[in-house]
Amino acid sequence: MHYHGKINWIAALSLGVSAFALQAQAFDTSPPPEPPPFPAQGKITYVARDSILEFKALPSYSEPAWVADKFEKTGKLPPLKERLPEEPLVYKIANMPDGAGVYGDTMRHVIGGRPEGWNYMAGQSQGWGGIDIALSECLTRTAPLFQVDAKDTEPLPNLAKGWDWSADGHKLTMHLVKGAKWSDGVPFTADDVMFYWEDGVIDPNVSPLGGGASPEAFGEGTTLRKIDDYTVEWTFKAAFPKQYLYTMAYPNFCPGPAHILKPKHPKYSKNTYEQFRNAFPPEYMNMPVMGAWVPVAYRPDDIIVMRRNPYYWKVDEKGQQLPYLDEVHYKLSTWADRDVQAVAGSGDISNLEQPENFVASLKRAAEPSAPARLAFGPRLIGYSLLMNFSANGWGSPDEREQAVRDLNRNLEFRQAITSAIDRKAIGDSLVKGPFTAIYPGGLSSGTSFYDRNSTVYYPYNLEAAKAALKKLGLVDTDNDGFVNFPKGTAGGKNVEIVLLVNNGYTTDKSLAEGLVGQMAKLGIRVVINAVDSNQRDAAHYGGRFDWAVRRNSSELSSVVQNTEQLAPVGPRTSWNHRAPEGKTLDIMPFEQQMADLVNRFINSQDNAERVDLMKQYQKISTENLYTVGLTEYPGALIINKRFSNIPPGTPIYMFNWAEDAIMRERVWVAADKQGKYELFPQQLPGKPGDRGPIE
Ligand code: GLA
Ligand code: CA
Repeated sequence: MHYHGKINWIAALSLGVSAFALQAQAFDTSPPPEPPPFPAQGKITYVARDSILEFKALPSYSEPAWVADKFEKTGKLPPLKERLPEEPLVYKIANMPDGAGVYGDTMRHVIGGRPEGWNYMAGQSQGWGGIDIALSECLTRTAPLFQVDAKDTEPLPNLAKGWDWSADGHKLTMHLVKGAKWSDGVPFTADDVMFYWEDGVIDPNVSPLGGGASPEAFGEGTTLRKIDDYTVEWTFKAAFPKQYLYTMAYPNFCPGPAHILKPKHPKYSKNTYEQFRNAFPPEYMNMPVMGAWVPVAYRPDDIIVMRRNPYYWKVDEKGQQLPYLDEVHYKLSTWADRDVQAVAGSGDISNLEQPENFVASLKRAAEPSAPARLAFGPRLIGYSLLMNFSANGWGSPDEREQAVRDLNRNLEFRQAITSAIDRKAIGDSLVKGPFTAIYPGGLSSGTSFYDRNSTVYYPYNLEAAKAALKKLGLVDTDNDGFVNFPKGTAGGKNVEIVLLVNNGYTTDKSLAEGLVGQMAKLGIRVVINAVDSNQRDAAHYGGRFDWAVRRNSSELSSVVQNTEQLAPVGPRTSWNHRAPEGKTLDIMPFEQQMADLVNRFINSQDNAERVDLMKQYQKISTENLYTVGLTEYPGALIINKRFSNIPPGTPIYMFNWAEDAIMRERVWVAADKQGKYELFPQQLPGKPGDRGPIE
């Protein structure tokens, strides 16, 4: 590590300048310009939270005839009633856009990611695009809340079918769905929940997928204990921190099968953590899940196939076991191809999220013969430039990297960078038209918590930006067009900044290239490090980046989901400022203010207060450029017209992605519209680790 004992040259330069003088704004600010109007299509019918589902026993249950005939009657499966919980999760028909469905057909996804393996709990990606979302069932569920009036909002029950708070609000007792089973028939119990908590979340060597499930995401000092097989009890430092019910949804509290995972975990075996992580490679089939479909076939760079889970614990009000769809595909291609295939009809669903594809997709979808519907939602897709704020070792920076971190931590430097970004040009380079808006950073303009007047925008001003760099001592001493570090810092070389980018998305790459060009005009040399999404995540969580272009996640699009990621409230909650292993967070004063506001928000029950806290948050975040906004725009859900029960107006991203928000387990296809896409008709998942499905 090179930072030990170094004089912080930025601090040294600022010596003698009083804090007050620094406050005197060299840069003019204003609220961001009003975005071009873009009315969301597809009107959402808002409903009461309790109108979606309930847990109860029904007089009788049914399943597809072929499952009953081929598997149950032959003794290959226990009777359906024994496979279901005492009180299954029941979807109410009144909330279904097209009512109760019929069995059959396939949903064909196309994804750009690639599976690392099935160990979600140890942080392995399954390739995204809704695949892990379908496998994982979590204590609570939030994606469908987009249709629930914001005032009524509390996460939906899921694996936790209900909960009670103690009178003082410090204890939360959760009742797990009783008698539910993993897809291999083994009971799901509090032991699965405790294993996920003790040997996943609070084991510092394990970090579940999504990167957010660190203990502090559930509050400092929070504990969890088993009461009995179907009851667990949380203890919180704060009273009634209802916010954590959101943290218990995807992606942070989705337990895996302890009976399969535990024997491979280092605490219970001779395995290393690396061996544990890799114990269930993509080739491992029939991994037990609580989700509606089980992976039964995998061909590298080709496809992952899933078949219905005969132990699935959700039904409709008629008692029909879900899911309605017998099979699900994930074709392993590219994200851009997902849009192309969905509009062409060779794929079934896409989140149209890359503006480069908007025009062609809209054209095709407008034709009467179009196989798919396409509907835009609110402007909830945003991109930010993240600067690594750790100056005490996250990602083990070398001398150049350390010098960049020192710059990143300097407000005037960040002001210079943001002022040198021509956001109109950036937006137009992605797509012309009323889609993109100027996004200064902070909360997304599509959330109910957004307040334009609390949003501080630094308009494009290249001259002011250049002047600021000069003031910081960043001058092009060797006349090659790029400013140099001052003598004695990083060898006085050019300021060179490495930008971490996910190469799976055209948009991420376009934005990065746009930044390289605009930074060159400022005299800052930016070098792109474009890697695939699995490598990107590893670099990001490891702190191995100077800057990163990143698609915003749901703390900015919903505020209530992943709230702790809005600020460095703990050593591992922020996207751009985490503590190095074994060290504390070198938090800056404005970040501390942000963290305090976020903690107050998490612990407040008062809606008006929460709105006000988010206004304050937005002001501090955007004024201090905690993140540097790049652009924001609406996304559109593309879905094949043959599917029923797709809620109109489903946003592609709010609390979670559309794959979750449409509730795929209750999506169906009318008998006369069903396609012939099934690769394993009338087959069911086999035993864990066995090669394929069974007949
Ligand atoms: C990727 C895609 C998104 C969505 C998510 C689901 O990130 O880009 O559109 O499908 O996966 O996890
Ligand atoms: Ca130079």
